[in-house]
Amino acid sequence: MAAVLGSRAGDADKVDAPFLQLIALVKRFDEAVAVAGVTLDIRQGEIFALLGSSGCGKSTLLRMLGGFELPTSGQILLEGRDLVRLPPHERPVNMMFQSYALFPHLTVWDNVAFGLRRDHLPRDEIASRVEKMLEMVQLQPYAKRKPHQLSGGQQQRVALARSLVKRPRLLLLDEPLGALDKQLRERTQLEVVDIIHQVGVTCVMVTHDQGEAMTMATRIGVMSEGRILQVGPPVDIYETPNCTFVADFIGSVNLFKGQITVDEADHVIVDSPECRHYVSHGITGTLGMGVHIAIRPEKIGIQQSPPGAHDYDNPAELGFNSSYGSIRDLAYLGSQTIYHVLLASGMAIKVTKSNDARHDAIRLPVGGKVYVWWWGSDVVVLTQ
Ligand SMILES: Nc1ncnc2c1ncn2[C@@H]1O[C@H](COP(=O)(O)OP(=O)(O)O)[C@@H](O)[C@H]1O
Ligand SMILES: [Mg+2]
Repeated sequence: MAAVLGSRAGDADKVDAPFLQLIALVKRFDEAVAVAGVTLDIRQGEIFALLGSSGCGKSTLLRMLGGFELPTSGQILLEGRDLVRLPPHERPVNMMFQSYALFPHLTVWDNVAFGLRRDHLPRDEIASRVEKMLEMVQLQPYAKRKPHQLSGGQQQRVALARSLVKRPRLLLLDEPLGALDKQLRERTQLEVVDIIHQVGVTCVMVTHDQGEAMTMATRIGVMSEGRILQVGPPVDIYETPNCTFVADFIGSVNLFKGQITVDEADHVIVDSPECRHYVSHGITGTLGMGVHIAIRPEKIGIQQSPPGAHDYDNPAELGFNSSYGSIRDLAYLGSQTIYHVLLASGMAIKVTKSNDARHDAIRLPVGGKVYVWWWGSDVVVLTQ
């Protein structure tokens, strides 16, 4: 029995062992530090998104993985093997660039076959691999067309097929859907995920679009100024951001500035000019410490009558987690209504209300007095 358990544990170790390891990676261009020390493990089969605004170093990091930039210092290990000294074509890695760089004079078929021919693979094998790939990306009917005879989405799939046909161990995508318009992009995101999972290739992608990262990635690394601030599955990044930058960068957030006035193992109280915040979990902080309380707009209740009058679980009943103000403006978007509320303290907050039933869509009036409140389990305390 012990042996069986032992071997299971061994297998689990193997599965969890990082497939790709970035260790203290740095890239400097003269004075500028594009990547400022990134240490990161990427698991086999996952789609990992590097997410950050323009200029934060995403592409530089990706280009180092592809072999198009030499790190100033640090290591890149793929299944334990150091990649840094290998030129791009000797790495089991394929990079799809932002502009697909398809060969305009070649057909779809020949574009996909290009890399295999260059590697002098047998003719039969080339044909079967290209056919299979075209089937996977649903481009068989277009095999004889040239790139300019295809839509943007189809060109994108040709580029993806061309990257995958060589069966790389690691696929690198730099803003893969950047050239597509919004509607097409949303549809293509899921198609690309399907194809990547079917092929089973591990993928690192770069995007500045948080929706794209949330939709496509198994895990996201949020980047700013050459560093990765937080790594986690989309739900963790959104629900438990670890700093004000990440909280603010992903989605919308209301940030209350306050001070820890009660610090217990199972709860914390933070006082801000707007209200007393009851946080129903302990944090690593100290009494008197300045912190931010982060609350997502959809987690705030908004109503015309004082909250909690008959609900003794409601924190507002105890004088916590509630405030009042007036509606400065609103946007009715059909599925939800966004309210901007000016609190008595002068702070403006954003509250979104999902219009689940038709009667929900009856809006609170602009200028009207409202109460806002939230649960102590829905806030995040940020110490940096
Ligand atoms: N070849 C280069 N020479 C000098 N500076 C560069 C070079 N490539 C990128 N940089 C700089 O490094 C920083 C990060 O760039 P990049 O990785 O392209 O960011 P992102 O892809 O996140 O927009 C930027 O300030 C950019 O100007
Ligand atoms: Mg870039």
